[in-house]
Amino acid sequence: MNAMLDKIKELKAEIEKASVSAKEEVEELRIKYISKKGLVGQLFNEFKDVPVELKKEVGQAINELKELAVNKINELKEAFESADQGASGVDLTMPGEPIKLGSRHPLSIVKNEMIDIFTRLGFTIAEGPEIEDDWHVFSALNFPPEHPARDMQDTFFIEKDPDVLLRTHTSSVQVRVMEKTQPPIRAIFPGRVFRNEAISARSHCIFHQIEGLYVDENVSFADLKQTLLYFARELFGEKTEIRLRPSYFPFTEPSAEMDVSCSICGGEGCNVCKYTGWLEILGCGMVDPNVLEACNIDSKKYTGFAFGMGIERTTMLKYGIKDIRHFFENDVRFLKQFESAN
Ligand code: DAH
Repeated sequence: MNAMLDKIKELKAEIEKASVSAKEEVEELRIKYISKKGLVGQLFNEFKDVPVELKKEVGQAINELKELAVNKINELKEAFESADQGASGVDLTMPGEPIKLGSRHPLSIVKNEMIDIFTRLGFTIAEGPEIEDDWHVFSALNFPPEHPARDMQDTFFIEKDPDVLLRTHTSSVQVRVMEKTQPPIRAIFPGRVFRNEAISARSHCIFHQIEGLYVDENVSFADLKQTLLYFARELFGEKTEIRLRPSYFPFTEPSAEMDVSCSICGGEGCNVCKYTGWLEILGCGMVDPNVLEACNIDSKKYTGFAFGMGIERTTMLKYGIKDIRHFFENDVRFLKQFESAN
């Protein structure tokens, strides 16, 4: 039986020396030595003919040979696998890269803040369609037929039908809500609006507004003023002052524009407030009785106030953003700056 021990020795030397130059050759080695019909397997078959006195020695030698072969083949296999990873640049054992969460868009941050403030005052939220008709955008809001806002220059019409248009302000939602609900009404209407304007640092053809409406018995201009003062201080800080300047809108009488003291310089004068100390942020007024009547609300019994502001404009003033186009370009270097405001 020395012959068998010699064979084992020979195979051992062979396996120790074995080297491969391709992955497929490792598999060939596996088949050659340790598959069922491989050389080591054959030794196990021949083992039954080994004389009893040699069984222990030969058996041990075969087991050692098998262990050697298995280890060698695994070693070669692993060497190829790590070489593969090197080539593709992917190490599957590395921990995953953390996925960075995006952050809210600055317009959403400011819109949500506005919604929060008015919700605390008992306002609910409503929305209306972006594609509107003349009645809801202009006629019911007391725009005279020849009013320039109806002009082709400002309004996007859909096809050639002058009665189908993209709303130019969210005041249209006032009308929709008043037509459906009798007072008391206390609601805000955030949404997207469209104007046929050239795009520049200060204006865009698509932007966002938030409109507010409060209609009930005995609603006064003092209520409007106090509501807006609370809003301004919540949004821009408790030291903020407001200033109402007389103005004109067809749907309110009297009408006013509201300025807030500049939150950037605290009213001292800077380039954001153009050295006036004040920033104009919204239009407002007492709902014109004609508007209430157009919506079937009794203007002798009820009064109301309304206000409307641009979300882009307010966000620009709050954060000192100089170009409205930043909001629509979605440059991550711009957006990232609002991560902490989320
Ligand atoms: N709709 C006006 C605009 O787009 C803003 C506005 C002014 C809304 C006065 C109002 C208001 O409700 O009372 O310019």
